[in-house]
Amino acid sequence: MKLEMYSEYAQKYDLAVRDNIYNAHLERPSLQAMLEDITGLDVLDLGCGSGVYAEYLIEQGATKITCLDASEQMIAIVKHKFGDRVSAYSQDLSIGLPQEASNSADVIISPLVIHYIEDLPALFAEISRVLKPSGYIVFSTHHPFADFECSSSGNYFERELVKDVWDTVGKPVEVTFYRRSLTEIMDAVTTNGLAVIQLSEGRVSDNVKQISMQQYEYLSKNPNFIFVKCRKL
Ligand SMILES: C[S@@+](CC[C@H](N)C(=O)[O-])C[C@H]1O[C@@H](n2cnc3c(N)ncnc32)[C@H](O)[C@@H]1O
Repeated sequence: MKLEMYSEYAQKYDLAVRDNIYNAHLERPSLQAMLEDITGLDVLDLGCGSGVYAEYLIEQGATKITCLDASEQMIAIVKHKFGDRVSAYSQDLSIGLPQEASNSADVIISPLVIHYIEDLPALFAEISRVLKPSGYIVFSTHHPFADFECSSSGNYFERELVKDVWDTVGKPVEVTFYRRSLTEIMDAVTTNGLAVIQLSEGRVSDNVKQISMQQYEYLSKNPNFIFVKCRKL
């Protein structure tokens, strides 16, 4: 699935997510809170976007950081920002992780990406293959409860391809993603040798009060993302 938001608008997306409410003050602090000490570890970032997480992984002392994204524009931004401090290459995750060796990653992160993948069990089979024994993945995705508002079928349990329009980059851009039930997400994980060890619905940072009290109130009372940490059995 080619997404304009992450190709044509990649540079604008990079600028937008550095300090916006949903990414910088809700998603990233919530996911980062679920990571353990990553000093000296081998970390894979699936759907790395423009590298906002790569920057964090470098700061936290990961030894080897590998960034994958379907968008060549995003990969070009990551290479430009970090040079040889990270290894970055273009990869469509819907066909797996063919360039990654089995049992090679200590930690995998995949922030806000799995809703673009139709066949989730196939992706989690690959994640499980590439993780070292006892390694873990933390991923985030749209909260199934929040996405159900976009349903046209009215059947929560049926996977749907949803079209929506987001103004993340300062103008309306159409995005397409899969809306699915929590059961479908959990089944994809647990049928592939991964055990869920933590689940969070995130927490908006207090400093959003200074940016928009209305948004703070909304995000304090309504679920927007879920965050799942799974360990390889
Ligand atoms: C919402 S952005 C998140 C980027 C980054 N993880 C972050 O948190 O800033 C989603 C990213 O997933 C990538 N993506 C979408 N579908 C993909 C696929 N099939 N394979 C690899 N990457 C994909 C997009 O190109 C985009 O960079």
